[in-house]
Amino acid sequence: MFSEIDIEKLKSKLKNYSKDYKENFNQIEKYIKSEIDEISKLKALKRSIIPEISFNQINLRNTKFVESIKKRGCVIVRDVFENLTIERLNNDLEKYIEENNYYDDQKKKSGLDKYFSDLKSSKPQIMGLYWSKAQMEIRHSENMLKVKKWLNNLWIYKNDEYEVFDPSKELSYADRVRRREPGDNTLGLSPHCDAGSVERWSDDYYQKIYKDIFSDNFLKFNPFNAKYRDKTTEFESPAVAHVFRTFQGWTALTEQGPNDGTLQLIPIAKAMAYILTRALLDDVPKDELCGSKLGKALSVNKEYHSLLLEGLISIPNMKPGDTVWWHPDVVHAVEEKHLGKNYSNVVYVGSTPYCKKNLDYVRKQAKKFLKGESPPDFAAEDFETNYKGRIKIENLTSLAKKQLAIEN
Ligand SMILES: [Fe+2]
Repeated sequence: MFSEIDIEKLKSKLKNYSKDYKENFNQIEKYIKSEIDEISKLKALKRSIIPEISFNQINLRNTKFVESIKKRGCVIVRDVFENLTIERLNNDLEKYIEENNYYDDQKKKSGLDKYFSDLKSSKPQIMGLYWSKAQMEIRHSENMLKVKKWLNNLWIYKNDEYEVFDPSKELSYADRVRRREPGDNTLGLSPHCDAGSVERWSDDYYQKIYKDIFSDNFLKFNPFNAKYRDKTTEFESPAVAHVFRTFQGWTALTEQGPNDGTLQLIPIAKAMAYILTRALLDDVPKDELCGSKLGKALSVNKEYHSLLLEGLISIPNMKPGDTVWWHPDVVHAVEEKHLGKNYSNVVYVGSTPYCKKNLDYVRKQAKKFLKGESPPDFAAEDFETNYKGRIKIENLTSLAKKQLAIEN
């Protein structure tokens, strides 16, 4: 499929957007260097780098705080769920995994999920489970809706041409679970970005989204302008998201901190500018994009992005019920080693606001939900069709039905 795109021609088109593509890259690199320096200094001082706020403070207007989220492209929202609730849900999820013999099932079906196969680390302990009580209750809770509305409003969702999404309404995107065993040292995930790889250079709408980057106007580029983010077309591949997420995120079910196999981020919202223009430089083979391949996660690697990788940090300690959120352009990874003593469990829940692209997907997803099958974006492993404890339509709240596009 990769051969269908003439990378050489594409790169020459993108280079021509700029008066001097090398100088353009140099300017971007300068900005990235200053961000990396700042991150390194804060790290040395053991100061916090990722903006964080507690759930009951999200609606206080604090311009400085909002600016820090827009600069870093990520935020931690703490105490979204009470401890007892999360404890109950975590126990429920553990029971769901064990009673239904998930691990045996996975062995039988392994190999179906090819998405992460080219990232350096081996297959992560991310499970193809979508419809457990824990996931559904977290995904469709009122508190989660409040957080997502707040996150959606950080974006510019209206422009001179159209309204990209309705920030006050959410749809739900069923995603997976990560459950890492203590001592696990093989199941990390190397640095990457979601929401498309080669598409970010080749897709017409991505070219419009990133126009300021390619055409020497990097400083004007606003990663939080949603215009055309809902119009991009992804190449068909298992586990490539066909929705527009204002933020990807997860909710901690267990306590986990640095070295517990947790999430790592490069907290620079504009880092994508570096990745995009780096691929146009002359040391990259003519028909390559710094290792990015169709249908795989966008790779960020030592060979081409060593500067950027200096900014990779582990997120701070997370308590059960805390949530972390990152912009779709933000580079992230999962630590190679879990040196902690307990399972580190998270439920992935991103923010998918109400727009046509998301509604189209969620309608297809609803059909899968009704049968307990894997959602359309994921490998058709269909582990849960006969699982005990799977959530069915009769267990849903009205809010959940709306977010699943089963009820208006
Ligand atoms: Fe990812």
